[in-house]
This record gives sequence, structure tokens and C-alpha cells, in this order.
Amino acid sequence: MNRPLQSRTALVFGAGAADVGPGNGAAIAIRMAQHGALVFAADRDPDAARRTQRLAQEAGGRCEVIEADVCLESSVRDAVQCAQAANGTVDILVNNVGVVLHGGPEELAVEDWDRAFALNTRSAFLALKHVLPLMTKAGRGAIVQVSSIAAARAGDGALCAYHASKAALNALGMNVAMQYAARGIRCNNILLGLMDTALVRQQLAVAHPHGLDHLLATRHATCPTGAMGSPWDAADAAAFLASDAARYINGTDIFVDGGLHNQVVPATPRRQP
Ligand SMILES: NC(=O)c1ccc[n+]([C@@H]2O[C@H](COP(=O)([O-])OP(=O)(O)OC[C@H]3O[C@@H](n4cnc5c(N)ncnc54)[C@H](O)[C@@H]3O)[C@@H](O)[C@H]2O)c1
Repeated sequence: MNRPLQSRTALVFGAGAADVGPGNGAAIAIRMAQHGALVFAADRDPDAARRTQRLAQEAGGRCEVIEADVCLESSVRDAVQCAQAANGTVDILVNNVGVVLHGGPEELAVEDWDRAFALNTRSAFLALKHVLPLMTKAGRGAIVQVSSIAAARAGDGALCAYHASKAALNALGMNVAMQYAARGIRCNNILLGLMDTALVRQQLAVAHPHGLDHLLATRHATCPTGAMGSPWDAADAAAFLASDAARYINGTDIFVDGGLHNQVVPATPRRQP
């Protein structure tokens, strides 16, 4: 197999796999391990990270587990130091942790707004704060941030904190990309669309126990390709952006959504005349 990430050390935050199957973070970690990187799978849930480790090893890759909470600076710093100890630097950083909290400004509690920003934006800031000095010293590095189409398109759900915090994540990535380009460090955001993960299915099944098939069919039909994306689509995009094949790609927002962001949805009437 082609191993474009051979001899790289990758640190993936939120790399745990759910017991129902790998999500985006786990798939990214597994794919990078398959491509030759020594992967550090960091997650708040060590059992989930161990599932990713097992899957990565079964796929022929190397993967170590780190228990880390991206909300705590000391935990992020320790995770970075642990990954650095292997080969002296962290070549690849993936900021994958994210949370969707429902509600518009009127319904959403202030604590939930803060939580969304802590998990979706501040987490990446902390990881960057501790990884960038290593990458600067090494004169190389690739950062991939896992964002959402929600960062760039309004949507019609009441998800104000998710949209705002993912947009802030994108802006953070862009700024870092410009600031560090001359030091050999690249930073790109991947904006995922509707992804068909086992966890998403499980959550939908709980929320809509009798209408799951219909809901899944609707989600597939919403995508221009007729099918949702899989975590492996996110993984392939992230692995490419982390590789030297993407050496001149920096400071971009790349949609991994089958073209969903181009879709023009007919406006639904909001008010009775
Ligand atoms: N699933 C989708 O359809 C979809 C669509 C668009 C964007 N995204 C984005 O993809 C990313 C991954 O989403 P996913 O649903 O695939 O999840 P995932 O399966 O990648 O799991 C995320 C992991 O993060 C871990 N985690 C949560 N809080 C943490 C913390 N404080 N510290 C460390 N680890 C923590 C969880 O334990 C879990 O293992 C998110 O940023 C999300 O916004 C997902």
C-alpha cells in the first residue's frame, strides 16, 4: 500500500470510535495510520480511543491511546507532550472534536453557548497553542480542522451556537494558515456535509424510532449525489491534506459534502400573509 504519511507523527483529538462504529475522528486516525503515520488517538473516552487503536492496528497501522479532554489546557498540553516524545515533534494535528447544541438565541442557555465554543473552537485554539511551537521548531507541519457546512451556509435549523462556533473555527484556521505559511506549516478546514455515521444513525433512531428509514432516505435524497457521505470520505480528505501531495494547499475551506453547499433550496414561507 502507498504510505504517504510514513514517518509522520499525527495527533488526532476526538479520535475515539463509538461502539457502534467509527465516526469522522476515528476514521481519520485509522486512515492516517494506514498511510504510515504513527497516530496518537486522543479522546476524553479512553475506551473509545482503544477501539480506534484496535481498528488501526487491524488495518496494519500504528496507533497509541491518549486520554485527553480538549476543554482543559493542561490535558491538551500533556497530550501534545506525549505525542512529541515519540519522534521529537508533531507533524500532523487534527482538531476533530465538535458538538451540536440545538436552539436559537432565545432558547439556548448561555452555558450551552459557552459549551459549544469550548468544544468547537476553544479546543482547537488550545491544541494550536501547544502544537505550533513544535511545528515551528521543526519547520514543517500540517493541520486539519474538522468543520461543517454549517460554518458557511445558514441552514434552516435553530443551531446558532453550532454555526457560529464552527465559523469561528474556520476563521481561526485561516488566520493561522496565513501567519505560519512561511514557516512550512499549513492549516486547512474540511467542511463536512451530511455524514452517515453509525452514531448519527443511533441518535436519529432514538429521536425518531418509527421514522428512521424515512429520515435516512430523506437525508440521502437531500445530497446532490443521492447519498450521504461516510466517515471515510472525511478521512480521505484529511489524509490528503496532511500529505505532501497537498503541499501547496493552505488556508482553504474544503467542502466534503457531495456538492451540498451549492444546492439552492426553495425558500419555505415563514409567515402567513
Ligand atoms: N457526523 C456528521 O454528520 C458531521 C457533519 C458535519 C460535521 N461534523 C463534525 O465532525 C466532527 C466529528 O463528529 P462525529 O459525529 O463524527 O464524532 P466522532 O465520532 O468523530 O466522535 C467525536 C469524539 O470526540 C470525543 N470527545 C467529545 N468531547 C471531548 C472532549 N472534551 N475532549 C476530548 N474528546 C472529546 C468523543 O468521545 C468522541 O469519541 C465534529 O467536529 C462535527 O462537528 C460531523
